[in-house]
Amino acid sequence: MELLKINNLYKTFKKHRVCAVDGASFSIFKGEVLGLVGESGCGKSTLAKLILRLIDADKGSIFYKGKDLLNISRNDMRKTRKDLQIIFQDPYASLDPRMKIGKVIEEVYDIHKNVSERDRKSKTIELLETVGLGETYLNRLPSELSGGERQRVGIARALATDPEFIICDEPVSSLDISVQAQILNLLIELQKRKNLTYLFISHDLGVIGSICDRIMVMQSGRFIESGSYEDIFKNPQCQYTRTLLESAFLP
Ligand SMILES: Nc1ncnc2c1ncn2[C@@H]1O[C@H](COP(=O)(O)OP(=O)(O)OP(=O)(O)O)[C@@H](O)[C@H]1O
Ligand SMILES: [Mg+2]
Repeated sequence: MELLKINNLYKTFKKHRVCAVDGASFSIFKGEVLGLVGESGCGKSTLAKLILRLIDADKGSIFYKGKDLLNISRNDMRKTRKDLQIIFQDPYASLDPRMKIGKVIEEVYDIHKNVSERDRKSKTIELLETVGLGETYLNRLPSELSGGERQRVGIARALATDPEFIICDEPVSSLDISVQAQILNLLIELQKRKNLTYLFISHDLGVIGSICDRIMVMQSGRFIESGSYEDIFKNPQCQYTRTLLESAFLP
């Protein structure tokens, strides 16, 4: 089933005349892990923000399960937001330093009103366990966690609305190599268990290649190549893709 359909999406940042997303079109199917790779500044995060409507597109369309996200009522968008989540690159910047971990997760229920008063605590503990932490983390502060643990909290928070589709925007780039593999394994295990759909963003083809069903290569706001792991790794068509391959971390 086609979950997300993007057509001819454009975004220019007027102030600096940067065309960050220059006519993007693609679809994501339910249960798929779609990789988006490209060098720093090519427009990956901008595309993610457009999909989640954190910023407005200049033109184009975004359909989620047939719903036109650029022409939808506020109320409908609020409901749809539950299904669409994001995991950010920097788990520290995305957590309020004064907020205890339990509260960080429960804040999501306040926004989405998806969990009853009675179930809040048990749901939070269950989420912490799902990401390999546990009840003992409820009262800790972000500064009292390792980078890997913080990213696990970021994942728990994204899961708190029981989403169908998650954008993973460089979720392991800020982590130590040894921790990267653990977090990637967790993300993939969750994806399989919950039949989640991921748009997985990275500048590293090594990371993308190890987990994605399909890969799109982005350069200066445009998709210049896309295909399966075999297509991109064994038979890249563009010099840019070959350069990305050369700089990839291949375990
Ligand atoms: N709010 C903004 N105002 C002006 N320009 C912006 C803004 N956000 C992004 N840009 C510009 O848009 C381009 C794409 O940025 P974007 O953050 O999407 O890149 P990216 O591919 O995610 O890079 P990275 O891999 O470093 O995260 C860059 O040239 C950037 O400077
Ligand atoms: Mg980015």
